[in-house]
Amino acid sequence: MSNLWKTKSYERLIAEASDDEKGLKRTLSAGALIALGIGAIIGAGLFSLTGIAAAEHAGPAVTISFVVAAIGCAFAGLCYAEFASMIPVAGSAYTYSYATMGEFMAWIIGWDLVLEYALGAATVGVSWSRYFLELLNKFGIHLPPELICSPWETLRLGDGTVIEGGIINLPAVFIVSLLSLVLIRGMRESSGINNILVILKVAVVIVFIALGWAYMNPDNHIPYIPENQGEFGKFGWSGIAMGAATVFFAFIGFDAVSTAAQETKNPQKGMPIGILGSLVICTILYVLFSHVMTGLLPYQEFANDAKPAATAFAQTPYGFLQTALIVAILAGYTSVILVMLMGQSRVFYSMSRDGLLPKFFGEVHPKFRTPWKTNIFFLFFVSLFAGFVPISDLGHMVSIGTLLAFVLVSIGVLVMRKTQPNAPRGFRTPWVPFVPIMGVLVCVGLMLSLPGESWLRLLAWMALGVLIYFVYSKKNSKLNS
Ligand code: ALA
Repeated sequence: MSNLWKTKSYERLIAEASDDEKGLKRTLSAGALIALGIGAIIGAGLFSLTGIAAAEHAGPAVTISFVVAAIGCAFAGLCYAEFASMIPVAGSAYTYSYATMGEFMAWIIGWDLVLEYALGAATVGVSWSRYFLELLNKFGIHLPPELICSPWETLRLGDGTVIEGGIINLPAVFIVSLLSLVLIRGMRESSGINNILVILKVAVVIVFIALGWAYMNPDNHIPYIPENQGEFGKFGWSGIAMGAATVFFAFIGFDAVSTAAQETKNPQKGMPIGILGSLVICTILYVLFSHVMTGLLPYQEFANDAKPAATAFAQTPYGFLQTALIVAILAGYTSVILVMLMGQSRVFYSMSRDGLLPKFFGEVHPKFRTPWKTNIFFLFFVSLFAGFVPISDLGHMVSIGTLLAFVLVSIGVLVMRKTQPNAPRGFRTPWVPFVPIMGVLVCVGLMLSLPGESWLRLLAWMALGVLIYFVYSKKNSKLNS
């Protein structure tokens, strides 16, 4: 049993990292990586889940939910930064835990990250589809209702039509498939475009706030914290907590920033500024955005509306800008989906190189030098979720999975300080053990605020992961051979 906890040595990790040079192409500069991070942060969490969190959990106080979620992310983010500056190789939290908490925990995290990256891509895909339909509506194009809505979903369209469950969300499948194919072709081409997308996305948020501000109806903000309706998570303070766990999704992606640690000039300063800075900027934008959104329309109006930004913006006299707004949001989403799909394929690539997953996932395309078989696999896997699962269920699954990863990374920093106190670190998390412990507490608190079904699904997914580990991965692990 002892080999379950065997760790990969620091030297071996670094050696493998340089080996990777012969496999995957390392084409992204530090600046491009940071843009990649911001590209991953602002997306469906803001443009879709804000509406759900306001309508179902927090009302106008969704702004407070954003602040609570940001605090959890900040603690975990500082822990990520220490790991990233110490172990700057592909695979993110999976790789970090292999070096600190041993193979079994690494497997658990790697398996868990599927929830963050693969289901995260699916969630954004569904949100993309909602804005895309709105765009088509503007041009008088209406797709058959059965093909735009997943089976267990209630969908309210821009023209007021309500669809009670369809067959498949085809536009979501389309965007996920298209971007998976782009990834196979390689990232170099997409990184320049990504920078433009990031600028566009931030511009949309600022335009929304600036133009919407004057048209808010103060009555919509009264009461700011609607009274609890007798059920946990239905407004009141528990609603703010559940809202925080829901909109937590909007911050996912900042962990991608931490992978740029190795390329940061002065990581001791640059890392916290990079991570906390992007979190603070996003939090300010999110709070202002959601304040304006719930000011433009009563929060109840956002129930079952996965394109609340468009709905709210229609209240302003700048309706003519709405089409441009939707196009920019759609474009901005593509960068989020790309980063998520890329993160997913890189985690599986690393796990396969370690022998924990079949070789198939680690095979690099001879011409494009991308892990193309993994990309194809996830094209189907992510499409399945994007096509058939409602957005709020997906969002909750992603949140709970990512929170679990954050908890484990925070614990990892504590473990590593004990087991490898002298290993070189470009950045040291400040105030250890306070910061990691707070990371654990806030993230566990957010997990506890999520609906019971999310817990059941998390447990089922993790149980499947443990089964696969003992049936396949443990026997095939390179470290244990
Ligand atoms: N933070 C990303 C989003 O909100 C995942 O879309």
